Amino acid sequence: MSAREIATFEEDLAAAMPALLTRAYARYSNFTVAAAVIDEDGVAHLGVNVENAAYPSGTCAEQTAIGAMVTAGGRKIAKVLIAGGSNTVVQPCGACRQRIAEFASDTCEIISVQDGRATRRTPFWSLLPDSFGPRDLD
Ligand code: THU
Repeated sequence: MSAREIATFEEDLAAAMPALLTRAYARYSNFTVAAAVIDEDGVAHLGVNVENAAYPSGTCAEQTAIGAMVTAGGRKIAKVLIAGGSNTVVQPCGACRQRIAEFASDTCEIISVQDGRATRRTPFWSLLPDSFGPRDLD
């Protein structure tokens, strides 16, 4: 994939986020979130938040998307696009930072999406410096 093709792919993915947001199950908070994890092969894995009547049993959008990536055989995260129904910038919660860290590449980026467009790019490791990870257990 050329740099131009990658840019177009990311733009298309960002444009699809508003439709993905409508699949979120946010019955209790009404705060819908959609995430797209792009793996090392450039494949996108999608997720939305899935809440539960037993509140702590709900899952975040990033968590759902990471599960989809691992299930499909992906093991490295290159980028994570995140959109919130509130249309504000939604950065991953603390628990999701830890979940992303497990698979994040050194150059992993968080891409905030608003109105179907990428509005902010954050280097993932700036959100979770000095973290505990797989290497600690090696
Ligand atoms: N949420 C996510 O899906 N991802 C985040 O990074 C922040 C929070 C969800 C969890 C819950 O369903 C709703 O947003 C309100 O916290």
